[in-house]
Amino acid sequence: MSTKLSSFFENFLSKESLFSDKKVLQSTYVPDEIEHRDEQLTKIAQMLAPSLKLERPSNIFIYGKTGTGKTLSVRYITDQLKAVSKKKNIPLKIIHINCKLKKIADTEYRLIAELARFFGKEIPATGLPTDQIYNTFFSALDSQKQLVILVLDEIDMLVRKTGDDVLYNLTRINQELKNSEISILGISNDLLFSANLHPQVKSSLSEEEIIFPPYNAIQIQDILRKRSVHAFKAGVVAEGVLEKCAAFAAREHGDARRALELLRVAGEIAEREGSLTLEIKHLDVAEEKIDKDTLLEMVRMQPKQFKSTLYSIMVMAENNKKIDFTGDVYELYKNICVQTGLRPLTQRRISDIVAELDMLGIINAKVISKGRFGRTREINLSIPSYLEGVLKKSLEADLDLAH
Ligand SMILES: Nc1ncnc2c1ncn2[C@@H]1O[C@H](COP(=O)(O)OP(=O)(O)OP(=O)(O)O)[C@@H](O)[C@H]1O
Ligand SMILES: [Mg+2]
Repeated sequence: MSTKLSSFFENFLSKESLFSDKKVLQSTYVPDEIEHRDEQLTKIAQMLAPSLKLERPSNIFIYGKTGTGKTLSVRYITDQLKAVSKKKNIPLKIIHINCKLKKIADTEYRLIAELARFFGKEIPATGLPTDQIYNTFFSALDSQKQLVILVLDEIDMLVRKTGDDVLYNLTRINQELKNSEISILGISNDLLFSANLHPQVKSSLSEEEIIFPPYNAIQIQDILRKRSVHAFKAGVVAEGVLEKCAAFAAREHGDARRALELLRVAGEIAEREGSLTLEIKHLDVAEEKIDKDTLLEMVRMQPKQFKSTLYSIMVMAENNKKIDFTGDVYELYKNICVQTGLRPLTQRRISDIVAELDMLGIINAKVISKGRFGRTREINLSIPSYLEGVLKKSLEADLDLAH
């Protein structure tokens, strides 16, 4: 093996890569140009410009589906604002918080502690009363004349974890500040998010609203074309590849992140195959690979009860086309619990898991009436059939079921 392995590495080194700079396709890469977002960029810039004169901008709420350039656009504008204010010595501070990050925005306490830290005040990780941490943060913020723009990216995650009290408090603090002012810019890809907020929080958060619509296939093509010039060597990307890649991404909604990922994974597959060009067939393989990885990852993170329920459904699906929840799945599930040593949950709880599986698009559950025998749910798997085998294997491994 060792000689084989060393010749494998030597071969690898001597092979020409298809990429000239793979980083360009990675999610952390920041492009120099933002395509097809002039209208949104102009609006945000106009709304935030007064901050340079220390006039408080309205709070802004930005929403649009995933991969529509929200984070990129806001970063781009705030970077420019930071550069100008630094050059001109303007006391404008911009804080960017990604609310998805644990340890920073998990709880109201952590978020306020993080904000206080930004102004140079350390707050212990736990233990102080909420009032006190707010006070420490307020006084640090108000210790000098300044304007603060607080960007809360993925703000729906914050509210999901902590409730909307923290937004209520943050949107009202200007009334208490004497020297400084704060504006909030919230970003979300959950289009229903603001509908569930307390009306008062909603109206102050969305003093201004900006929508990022999904890209269409042509716009995604433009984004891909610009990137692929820097990412791949000349002549590598075969004709029609970018068009097909854009069409794939625009099929659900125009998600630029997914399009870029697809192109990168397809390039890696082509390279591994030893191909000199990136062809449409590599995109097909890449799409299957991404779908597989996404599904396995989503299932892997679920609790064992969820996995056992899904496993029962998959076993039933192998045997018959129509699966009756009440009769079949629950019985088999109890059986699986014996094998795995899990304590069986009630039929009611498993029924909730079935609803969740339905929501995640893994199964399709239809309520049907059985006349005087009541109602049940008829279940079908709705994952592509080529994924059934791998998913079942991964469930068996996770549940320690030897087969
Ligand atoms: N108009 C654009 N021009 C160039 N690249 C873009 C454009 N829009 C998005 N991208 C790229 O697509 C990826 C996703 O963009 P971004 O992170 O801004 O999406 P988002 O709207 O914040 O999504 P999410 O809601 O999932 O956070 C990034 O890699 C970004 O560089
Ligand atoms: Mg984002």
